[in-house]
Formats: sequence, structure tokens, C-alpha cells
Amino acid sequence: MSQLSVYSRFSKLSREEKIALLPLSNDSKNLLDKAMIGNEAIAVVIDKLSENTVSHFSFPMGIAPNIWMNGKHYFVPLVTEESSIVAAISKAARFWSDFGGFNAKVLGTEKKGQVHFFWKGEKSLLMAKLPAIKDFILLRVNSITRQMVKRGGGITSITLDDLTVELPYYYQLNVGFETKDAMGANFINSCLEEMKKSLNQFAICDLEMDESLLDINMAILSNYTLNCKAVATVSCPVDALNSYGEKIGTKNLALRLLQAVQIAKININRAVTHNKGIYNGIDALAIATGNDWRALEAGGHAYASRNGKYSSLTVAKIENNIFSMELELPLTLGTVGGITNLHPMSKLAMEILGNPDAAELMQLMAVIGLASNFSALLALTSTGIQKGHMKMHLSNILLQLKASSEQIIRAETYFNDKTVSFTEVEKFLSAK
Ligand code: MEV
Repeated sequence: MSQLSVYSRFSKLSREEKIALLPLSNDSKNLLDKAMIGNEAIAVVIDKLSENTVSHFSFPMGIAPNIWMNGKHYFVPLVTEESSIVAAISKAARFWSDFGGFNAKVLGTEKKGQVHFFWKGEKSLLMAKLPAIKDFILLRVNSITRQMVKRGGGITSITLDDLTVELPYYYQLNVGFETKDAMGANFINSCLEEMKKSLNQFAICDLEMDESLLDINMAILSNYTLNCKAVATVSCPVDALNSYGEKIGTKNLALRLLQAVQIAKININRAVTHNKGIYNGIDALAIATGNDWRALEAGGHAYASRNGKYSSLTVAKIENNIFSMELELPLTLGTVGGITNLHPMSKLAMEILGNPDAAELMQLMAVIGLASNFSALLALTSTGIQKGHMKMHLSNILLQLKASSEQIIRAETYFNDKTVSFTEVEKFLSAK
């Protein structure tokens, strides 16, 4: 059989046959086996999460131990490959625990999706038909929404958006959904695809509409969820922050933090990295709980541009000698269904969190994003981030070079005031 035809049948091959085709040494092929999760029951679930699985790819799960939100304590599980994130969030949480911790609330839970179509007929006819179109598609979609309605969710709104000024003949059926504790992507997309079919059928059946003038392009949820948001806040006296600043070698810490947020508000170079630091925490909690972090990021970065210019997602202020910081952002996530209930480690992460519902998890994600941002700004406006990063970087390099415990202790002392690089650490270890 030619190579090409083997590649096109790749998904049909056994795991062993797939591995045999990969350009890997025997040692590397063995590594694919060694990296597999040892527990059969877990391995079987993870194997099935994706196509063409040949091995498993692990990241550390760490715990931020000191998170207080709305007066309640949480251990927060975080899955990330970036070495300083868990420590940074824990540090911020430790600081804010002395000031009542974080406050958070949900600002809405409505999700959105659209049927995108082109209508070359009279606009007025389409507008006039809208109530009948709505009734028709709602009836047709009933069998899909029934269960969700029983759980208190379903379709919350349908509007027709006329976007013909921006793109000739282009309209959207803009649909709102309440999906309760589910992220709801499958539910929303199933509804929208049924609506797409129903719209077409309506045009075929309606005596005044000419279906040849209707061209439905697609039906899909939107990750831009302006009405599915949470907000987290912290505040403390300026003096308390400044005394903390003195301890870590920074004068006027409150003012410096304020300025750091102001810079990210007006400047895109800084805003993107500032917001990336927020998602360091949010993504880590999203991964731990089996949530779609790409959806969260896409929605959040778009939200950061909602005023026409990409800007900081956090805001800070000093008023009446009180420093406060706030993070408000869209968060579409779920605590039932999806990977959350499938991946044994996500289930376990939810248990560590006390099995929150979606609204509580939204708030926790906003809190973790705020903690992550606060900690980054704390480091940046005082010692810089390299000191902390380099410590973890050194430990990773030492691990890679299989340093002994005695070498590790000596290397940590030696590199305390020196720049860490792979070559320098290698040189240090081979010189001793
Ligand atoms: C690094 O992953 C994240 C930071 O760059 C965030 C920031 O600059 O605010 C430290």
C-alpha cells in the first residue's frame, strides 16, 4: 500500500500501527507508552476525548490554597505548564485574605448564537414575516429545548439583525439562550441548526417568500457573550498596600499599581500582555475544570476591544484612600456535561472546589483572573518578574539535566544573583 493511502486511512489504524508510522526513534516510541496514564479506567476516557490518540500529555495540577470569595474559602485547582502561575495566584490570595478576600458576582448568564443568511428579496417582507418565522422555528425547535426548559433554561430571545449596510443582503437571526449549569455549546448549536432548516422550510412553504432569494450561510453559537459575565473586586487601604510595598522594596505601591493599570488601559502593547496575565489564571482553572479556555479567551479579548480600542480588562482606582481593583469579563462555562463530567481529573477538580454550580465557577474564574493580574503587576512594579520566573526556570533546567539534590542546592545558591540560562547551568554542573 502506498504511503499516501496509509496516511488517508490513519484514523482506522491501531495505536501501534499509527506509532509505527511516526518519524520517531525506538526510545521516543517507548516514551509514548511510558507517558500513558497508568490507570486503565482513566486512560480509556482520555483516549476517547480526541482522534488518533497515540499517548497522553500531562501538565501539573497545583492548588492555590488561600482563596476567599464572598466570605467562603476555596482550594483552587490550577492546571498549567507555566511554572510561576500557581505561586503568583497564591501570593495574591494570601495578600487579599487579610482584607476580606475577593468579592464577586454574576452579571448575566445569557448566551448567544446566530443564523447567518442572505436575503435578496424585499427587506419589508422579511420584517413583516418575522413574527411568523419566529413562531414556526420555535415550534420546530421544541423537541430540542424541552429538557433544557424543564431545567429552567431554553431560548430567551430571537431578534432579526439587519446588517445589510455592512454586507449587502446580510441578516442574522440573533438568538439568546439560557443553558443553566451547562456550557451549552451542543445544545445551542443543535437549536441553531434546526432553526437554519426551519427558516429554509418557512421560505419554501410561505406563499409570499421566494426561497430562491434566501441563502443561509451558517448557524453557530457566538463566543462573544456580552450578557454572560462575572465581576470580581478587591479593595484595601492605600497605606496597607504601601506598607506591603515597602516590604517588597517598592515605594508608593498603590500608585504604581494604579499607573500600571492605566498604562494597560491606553496602550495596546501593554494591554495584550496585561490581559494575557489575567488568562494565565483563568485558563488554568478552565483546564482543571474541563472548560473550553479558547472560547473564554476569544470572548474576553473581544470584550477588551468593546469600546473600539483594545484595552485592559481590569480597572483600578484610588478613592478616599482606598485602593480597589476590578475585573469584569464574559465567562461562558459549564459545570455539568462536557469534559467536566467526563474527565476524571476535572470531576476531581470540581470536588476540590466543593462542586460549584456554573454561576459560582464564573465568579471564581473572575477572582482567579484578578489574582493573577494583581500578582503580575505586583512583581512588575517591584522586583520585576524575572526573579520569580528564573527560580522556576532554574528548577526546570536542573530537572532536565538530572541534577542531584546536592547539585540543586549549590546551583540555587550560585544562581541567586545571576542570569539563568541552559548553557550556564550546564557549565556550572559540569565544572563541579
Ligand atoms: C507572563 O506569563 C504574564 C505577565 O507577562 C503578565 C503581565 O505582564 O502582566 C507577567
